[in-house]
Amino acid sequence: MADKVYRASTTAPVNIAVVKYWGKRDAKLNLPTNSSLSVTLSQDDLRTLTTASASASYSGDDTLILNGEVSDISGARTQACLRELRARRAALEAANSDLPKLSTYPLKIVSENNFPTAAGLASSAAGFAALVRAIADLYELPESPSDLSLIARQGSGSACRSLFGGYVAWRMGEQADGLDSRADLVAEASHWPDMRALILVVSAAKKGVSSSSGMQQTVATSGMFKERITTVVPKMMDLMEESIKNKDFEQFAEVTMRDSNSFHATCADTYPPIFYMNDVSKTAIRAVEYINAKAGRTVAAYTFDAGPNCVVYYLEKDAPTVLGTFYQALSSVSGWKEGTASVKSEFQLEDNLASVLKDGVSRVIMTGVGEGPQKTNEFLVAEDGSTVKR
Ligand code: DP6
Repeated sequence: MADKVYRASTTAPVNIAVVKYWGKRDAKLNLPTNSSLSVTLSQDDLRTLTTASASASYSGDDTLILNGEVSDISGARTQACLRELRARRAALEAANSDLPKLSTYPLKIVSENNFPTAAGLASSAAGFAALVRAIADLYELPESPSDLSLIARQGSGSACRSLFGGYVAWRMGEQADGLDSRADLVAEASHWPDMRALILVVSAAKKGVSSSSGMQQTVATSGMFKERITTVVPKMMDLMEESIKNKDFEQFAEVTMRDSNSFHATCADTYPPIFYMNDVSKTAIRAVEYINAKAGRTVAAYTFDAGPNCVVYYLEKDAPTVLGTFYQALSSVSGWKEGTASVKSEFQLEDNLASVLKDGVSRVIMTGVGEGPQKTNEFLVAEDGSTVKR
């Protein structure tokens, strides 16, 4: 009889930080210089599906197929995740000789995103969260999501926050071994379920500086950065947690925008400077300011990661004002959900703002706060170990 193929499948979400992680105090263990906080986005719109499998019948090295292509997993970060997960499985096998020796079998991992890579959305967070969760399930590890976040963090810092749904903090910790640098849940998605995100996908002319190398340059050269990590972020973290607990959108929005501005200011203060936002991004900021001014209160918040895409957070009740206004200007681009056309705004963006957005935004993604990784019976590796064709 052929050797059994052991399998586990999971989906994992993307998260977008509202207090940004930017800076490493230990690049090897991927320990940050500051705590951060993010909103997990709905997997209906953005998710990675990963199947991890192991079998004595597999030969050679561990393999990963990502979006249909063989992916190089020899890098230190992926290897650190695999090593940590295997060691935990090996410990279980040592304690219970009845367990099949999965830790000694090669892994075959197959992964797919439900969103186009061309959208320029950082998929590493969902990718590493799904990889770690799927292998942990395959190995039947008893570790909690917070324990697994220690492993995912070593793949990509922001990935540690994608092991939870809702509103998630990554506590920077202070130990040299990093065992206290982990994600924890601030609030479930159901605590504040009406949080929405509209992503304006802005095409970049050329690929910018990667976040890993950009943050290292900031740590090494920016004077302002020290102020950010010692004074600014600790205050932002407190205010952000308070705003989430109280479901206070105005405070949530102000902290989100201030923190995005602070992060991009330290990028500009890096020597030589790093610019992630372009003119279209800056026009999106003006559009959000315009909407808030017209509404007479803060109904929308912008935030930008290490690229030009704008994420606009708003509450469902303010969809007419926020979504409706962006729709009027951008109705010709793809990505709007059915029914958006009937969400009418009383305001209209000024022509100069609307035309820059229309020329520079290639598509939108409408989503909202969502759940953490989900176990699924949808497998990308068949029972016989072959890759499922889709
Ligand atoms: C601007 O998690 O991609 O999105 O740990 O080097 O993989 P590495 O960096 P990564 O950085 C994300 C930076 C950010 C802010 C954030 O998500 O908090």
